[in-house]
Amino acid sequence: MNILGINAYHGNASAAILCDGKLVAAVEEERFNRVKYAAGFPAAAIRYCLQAAGVTAAEIDHVAVPRNPYARLGTKLFYALRMPSFARERAKVLAKFTGIREALARALDIAPQDLRAKFHRVEHHVAHLASTFYCSPFEAAALLSADGLGDFASSMWGSSFGRRMNFFGAVAFPRSLGLYYSAVTQYLGFLKFGDEYKVMGLGAYGDPEFLPEFREIVRSNGARFHLGLEYFTHHRTGPEMSWAEADKTPVLGRMYSDEMPRKLGPARVPEEPIDQRHKNLASSLQVRLEEVYLGMLERLQRETGLKSVCLAGGVAFNCVANGKIPLSTGFENIYVHPAAGDAGLAVGAAQFVWHQVLGHPRDFSMEHAYWGPEFSRDEIRTATSSSRLGPSGCSISELPEQELLRKTAAIIADGKILGWFQGRAEWGPRALGNRSIVADPRRPEMKEILNRRIKHRETFRPFAPSILAEKTGEWFEQAHPSPFMTMAYAVKREKRDKIPAPTHVDGTGRLQTVTANANPRYWRLISEFERQAGVPVVLNTSFNDNEPIVCKPVEAIDCFERTQMDALVIGDFLITRS
Ligand SMILES: [Fe+2]
Repeated sequence: MNILGINAYHGNASAAILCDGKLVAAVEEERFNRVKYAAGFPAAAIRYCLQAAGVTAAEIDHVAVPRNPYARLGTKLFYALRMPSFARERAKVLAKFTGIREALARALDIAPQDLRAKFHRVEHHVAHLASTFYCSPFEAAALLSADGLGDFASSMWGSSFGRRMNFFGAVAFPRSLGLYYSAVTQYLGFLKFGDEYKVMGLGAYGDPEFLPEFREIVRSNGARFHLGLEYFTHHRTGPEMSWAEADKTPVLGRMYSDEMPRKLGPARVPEEPIDQRHKNLASSLQVRLEEVYLGMLERLQRETGLKSVCLAGGVAFNCVANGKIPLSTGFENIYVHPAAGDAGLAVGAAQFVWHQVLGHPRDFSMEHAYWGPEFSRDEIRTATSSSRLGPSGCSISELPEQELLRKTAAIIADGKILGWFQGRAEWGPRALGNRSIVADPRRPEMKEILNRRIKHRETFRPFAPSILAEKTGEWFEQAHPSPFMTMAYAVKREKRDKIPAPTHVDGTGRLQTVTANANPRYWRLISEFERQAGVPVVLNTSFNDNEPIVCKPVEAIDCFERTQMDALVIGDFLITRS
């Protein structure tokens, strides 16, 4: 039985396929069309999933779509009457969804009647919750989806036992923690879709001086929260997320009202220098988010009495807040889906159909995030030999693994910057050791070097550490696994000067805990680096330069040639500059 999950007509368009309940492939459209957070219909992602599973269009039994136009219909109608422009926008999106069978047929180059699949609509947050619970190793868990907006709700919570999910409550439009974070992100001059994580990084440089003001902007009475709507516009105009068919880049309309600068001072213009006030605003934004988010989780733990929690939704990417869950709530075990944002809906919707609609028991947990395209030795050899690497004086050698790892670890320990491309591409926005740029964490100057030579990004943003999972407790104040870089913990004080490059200004690191099971070759590389350099940690940043993470060998080679990376490993091939 083959179930195709499709997240379409929204940012982070993606596809996933389950064959007899087992996840076989999952990938975001951006990896193919090279448009960051690409919206629209994920035609290339779907084609890849079918090819990886060896499934033809006619063999798709079910298609799961994570949107239900009938969810919260009353609220939708109420706002549609008040906001005609919003209603028009919704109607356009709805029309696209009703044509999804035709769009799928077009993507697969067949007639719509040749698709025999049954189509299912799964509510947005139900799909988020399914994506995290059904991928978790827990038999029973509390569930929270915390998000911007989907099917007119921003959050949903409940609990799960076995294969059944039960939902206790939801927060409906216009109240939204995600939209709160997005609006203040815009006010701070970061206008691109997905810029929230930059502001989260900025917050570490400030003090929460504006916390009293932010408690007015998000009001809570313990369990519930409300937005001070006078500071926002989305309840009047609708949260405007649009994209042009031609380029697929999602764009958000302005979400804060003139009341916000009246309350907090002038909004920052993009490109304006970042001063201490901006840093304090970012810190206050973050601290208020944590108060409300951790408060919701603390109550959920008390109500369910459960020790495990599964998280998804855009807010679940807030690794700073997630790192505080074990300290501030009674939850001891945490699972965050690696694609906690809307890309993950493709997996969640498909799993919901398999377990909850069709009633199959669970026998899968997602312990690694390598569900994307991979390339054979021959494809890699062809990509390297047909590139300009040889003619431009690079040396290319194919090496047995031990020699490859020994030389690669030495390159890193020598302060060189390494592109590291292995196996299947990561699912979700984080590079986790298969499409990564790796560097020496011991060198304080490495952060500046990476920013200047390779990444061309804001200097305040931190880089992340990958650590051998079994060494986590020796280096960090907490040892709970973080295989998908969704938690930030304090680096132990005595270790901070040993790994300064991926230690953020507040002493934390957004770590990836690497196990020999989840990624054997990356684990062995870090082990070899530890043998040579004395630390079981490497600095890991995504393999890209202001673009989606590279997917194919040719893109890795192109990024290597464009930037000033020193060495590149693709599969068993080591490429160094002369
Ligand atoms: Fe969402």
